[in-house]
Amino acid sequence: MSTKSSEIKDLAALLRADWNRRIRLDRRMWMSEAVESDDQMLASGERDLLLLLGSEISNTANKRVLEIGCGVGRMLVPAAGYFDSVIGVDVSDEAVAAANQLISTRELQQKVQAILVDGTNLAQIGDSSIDLIFSYGTLGIMPSRVLARCLAESHRVLRRNGSMRVQLYLGREQPSVEEDTLAVRAYDRDRFTRACAAGGFELSSAEELIHPIGNVSKPAEGIIAHIVSLRKTGESPLDTETIEAILLENPEQAAGESWAGSQLEYQMAITRAQKLVIDRQLPEARALFEYAADHYKHSDDIIEKVLTEINRVLESNE
Ligand SMILES: C[S@@+](CC[C@H](N)C(=O)[O-])C[C@H]1O[C@@H](n2cnc3c(N)ncnc32)[C@H](O)[C@@H]1O
Repeated sequence: MSTKSSEIKDLAALLRADWNRRIRLDRRMWMSEAVESDDQMLASGERDLLLLLGSEISNTANKRVLEIGCGVGRMLVPAAGYFDSVIGVDVSDEAVAAANQLISTRELQQKVQAILVDGTNLAQIGDSSIDLIFSYGTLGIMPSRVLARCLAESHRVLRRNGSMRVQLYLGREQPSVEEDTLAVRAYDRDRFTRACAAGGFELSSAEELIHPIGNVSKPAEGIIAHIVSLRKTGESPLDTETIEAILLENPEQAAGESWAGSQLEYQMAITRAQKLVIDRQLPEARALFEYAADHYKHSDDIIEKVLTEINRVLESNE
């Protein structure tokens, strides 16, 4: 299998366009559970940081830490309370701008910064310059080809004996297509372990993530959320196509013309819109229903009826 550089550039551009579009619509809702304020978002970020890092959080002295997929700073900003030097990278310039805005309003620029990356490499981060990488809600939803590249790049930027703590999904391999930049991918544990070894990492632990807000796994579908610890070994990574080939029994293909849009993105937008209707925030609910229908080809006919009803109520209130 050989990956053309134009295909990687297309994937990088798609990642950026998709995430920018999501974050422009609502900068907080895609990060974790929907919250109503930055304070609530940061509280959820600190909770998840502690869940993710576990024992690493008590071993912070002189550590340079990197978050992959820092989003709008939900976990990056709380990380500054524990580490002296924190860098977040994200493929979305909307996310990076929002994260840096949050960092400056909290006056944390001396300790933490968010940096834009192209999504398929960590070119802005120097070789062997990071002690610990963490990532939450990011590696398990990105195309597997991108994950393979993230592993190899993480190996490059980590110092000797550096480690990673990441949240992703293990279990039964899920069918997915490469254009889907927001889909839960679950990796077979044995394949994932071997792919990490091919990326120059030893899997030191993989624990199921039991989350206080409720179900984050779907056992019936073979999707189990995990927190995985990886340690950089002395082995150099193999090429990223080999890592990707080990990760999945059925490699992700491009859907091309038949691409319908991300089903998870659609479901998240609808769920949030329904909550907004209940809270009587009708203009915001309308924007989300319209967004869901615009970006998913198999959207439910009922959305048209709901939109007609919302418009009727809003007009009658004018
Ligand atoms: C679901 S959000 C989670 C953000 C953050 N980790 C949190 O928990 O609040 C996923 C983030 O990862 C970013 N992302 C997705 N693929 C990426 C990639 N290949 N490289 C860097 N960032 C990526 C998206 O732009 C988005 O901001």
